[in-house]
Order: sequence, then C-alpha cells, then structure tokens
Amino acid sequence: RDPVGTTPAATVTVTGAAGQIGYATVFRAAAGALLGPATPVRLRLLEVPQAARAAEGVAMELLDGAFPLLASVDVFDDPAAAFEGSEVGLLIGAKPRSQGMERADLLSANAGIFSVQGRAINDGAADSFRAVVVGNPANTNALIAASHAPDVPAERFTALTRLDHHRAEAQLAIACDVSVNDVDGIAIWGNHSASQYVDLTRATVQGRPAEEVLAERGLDRQWIDDFFIPKVAKRGAEIIRVRGGSSVASAAHAALRHVRTWLRGTDEGRWTSMAVPSTGAHGIPEGVVSSFPVTCSQGGYAIVEPWAVDEFSRARIDRSVAELLAEREAVAELGLLGPRA
Ligand code: NAD
Ligand code: LMR
Repeated sequence: RDPVGTTPAATVTVTGAAGQIGYATVFRAAAGALLGPATPVRLRLLEVPQAARAAEGVAMELLDGAFPLLASVDVFDDPAAAFEGSEVGLLIGAKPRSQGMERADLLSANAGIFSVQGRAINDGAADSFRAVVVGNPANTNALIAASHAPDVPAERFTALTRLDHHRAEAQLAIACDVSVNDVDGIAIWGNHSASQYVDLTRATVQGRPAEEVLAERGLDRQWIDDFFIPKVAKRGAEIIRVRGGSSVASAAHAALRHVRTWLRGTDEGRWTSMAVPSTGAHGIPEGVVSSFPVTCSQGGYAIVEPWAVDEFSRARIDRSVAELLAEREAVAELGLLGPRA
C-alpha cells in the first residue's frame, strides 16, 4: 500500500464533477495527484440538479476505489453547501465549445455560473481558499468569480493556462527532437484562447537558448510566429476536430499540476504559466486575469520580473490582453461583475 496521509485532510470542491474533465480529475485527486501523498482529501462534488444523480454515481465509484487518501466524498447541487469550508476549488463545471465555436462564444452561456459560485465562495469558503478556473472562457470566468468574492483575496482566483504551457513544451520538444525533460523556460501570456502569446524568448533546450537551437534546424522567428504559436494556441480546436470533443484528460492533468505546483512550489530557477489577476506587471492592466510566467513558493505565487519584453513579444501580449479587456467589458455590460469590479 501507498503511505496514508500524515497531514490533516483538506477540503476540495470540484464543480462539474460528473462532466468529462471532472470525472478525469477526481480519481487522480483521490490518489494524491492534487495535494500530494501526505494529505488526505475530502472531496465535495458540485453539479447542477439534473446531473446530481450522475455525480452520486461518480461518488460511488470513488468509494469503490478504496483510495487510502480519500477521507470523504459528498455530492451537492447547491453551491453554498458545496463551498462551505472549502480550501481548494477546481471550477470545471461549464459548457464546453463544439466544432466551429470560439471560446468567446461561451461568454454569456457560462459567465452566470461563476457569479453564483463567487458569492458562495465569499460566504463559506475557508480563509485559505484557492481556486483554479477551468471552465471557459477561463480567464474571464475567474475575473467574474473574484468580483463576487470581495472578502477573498483576488489573487486566490486563477485560471488554467498550464495546459497551453504543457502543449508548448511538447511541441518545442518535438521540433527540436528532444525529450520534454530537456525543455524549460516557456511562458504563456494573455488569454487561454487563440490570441495567447507563447513566448520562447527565455526558453531553453538542453540548457541552450531555444531560438538558437531552432535556428540550427532552419526554424526562425517567422516559423515561431506562423507555425509554432498557432499550433499551440489553436490546439484546443485541433483536438475538438480530431478527437470529436474538447480536451479532457490533458486538461484534467494540467488542472491537477496547476494546483500541485501552486501548493508545493516551483523548482529553484524555474517558472510555470498561470493566469492570475495582474498586479500591473509587464504593462498588463491591474486586475485583468492574464497568463504570466510565475514562480510558486510556500503556497503563494509571484509574477516573474524583471523580464525584458522585446517588441515582437510586446505586440503579441498586447493583442491578447486587448481581447481580455474586451471580454471584461462584455461581461460588465451583461451585469455579471460583482462588487469588487
Ligand atoms: P462537460 O460538459 O463534459 O462537463 C461539464 C459539467 O459541468 C457537466 O456535468 C455540467 O452538468 C456541469 N455544470 C454545468 N453548470 C454547472 C454549475 N453551475 N455548477 C456545477 N456544475 C455545472 O464539459 P468538460 O469537457 O468537462 O469541460 C468543462 C469546461 O472546461 C468547458 O467549459 C471546457 O471548455 C473547459 N476546458 C477548459 C480548458 C482549459 O485549459 N482552461 C481545457 C479543456 C476544457
Ligand atoms: C482546450 O484548450 O482544449 C480547451 O480550452 C477546450 C477548447 O474549447 O479549446
């Protein structure tokens, strides 16, 4: 048997727990992939009333796994009850896009979910509460949730761009014919959408500048701009086309890694990508939930600075941030922003 936890159990709320990503996430969370092998988990599964029975089925399967780290599992269809005492929120529950849709098309369909959940978090979550929003459009949904939770520090509401980070690592490794373990220093900036900027300016391959290694293979900045960045930024649509549905297991894996890294910390001298409320760093307007390179330690994170953003990068970051600002304006017009906005 694996070791049973040695620290107190933590309460984790998973929304959309009967959905595809939820289903792919909860078993690994119960096996220790979220909080590590020392911490038992109390899972609180939130679903809409129509899917609550299916979530009961997921809970039954979780029990059937006899996971040593699973302290309890409960099902809710009421956000207030689901977030009572919650320490970690995996905000997955939302409609995924289908072929031909852009993530922005989901704005009005999904935004309402996050105002209600933000209020529930404000009223009942633990002081240590942290959230990662997976449901799209993830950055703006995190902004909405934070705006409805004025008593929770805004920086605790983050959104998932770790999947984009992983995709970029994999594509860079393929382009350079190395293992992903040889690749480091990638940064994702801006929105989790086709406008995101995948930054290779600090990336390394086997310790050498990635752009230098790519150039040796005849792949220049033009290739990065015309092929590499769109390959990563449009990977979600490519998966929908090829798999016939939006990404699931890779998204679940990224969400688990996002929280694990946040809690455990990044390795010395390394960073990851997370969408977090901007502090105004790198000229990105304060409060906008944008992806940044971040380091994590002791349960917190910090945007990596100083970082000399060159002209090429600046234009691409600004384009994605402009999209985030437009999304913010759109949800403000829909009356979806709460008291902190
Ligand atoms: P899915 O349709 O399989 O599951 C979504 C689940 O959410 C459903 O079971 C639904 O009943 C539930 N739900 C809806 N509203 C809810 C609410 N108010 N409270 C609780 N549960 C609610 O979809 P999926 O494939 O699991 O995708 C979920 C979301 O994640 C989508 O918005 C998708 O676009 C997004 N996504 C994000 C990323 C990322 O990297 N950020 C990656 C992949 C997918
Ligand atoms: C993804 O990046 O795979 C998800 O955001 C799903 C999508 O709609 O692209």
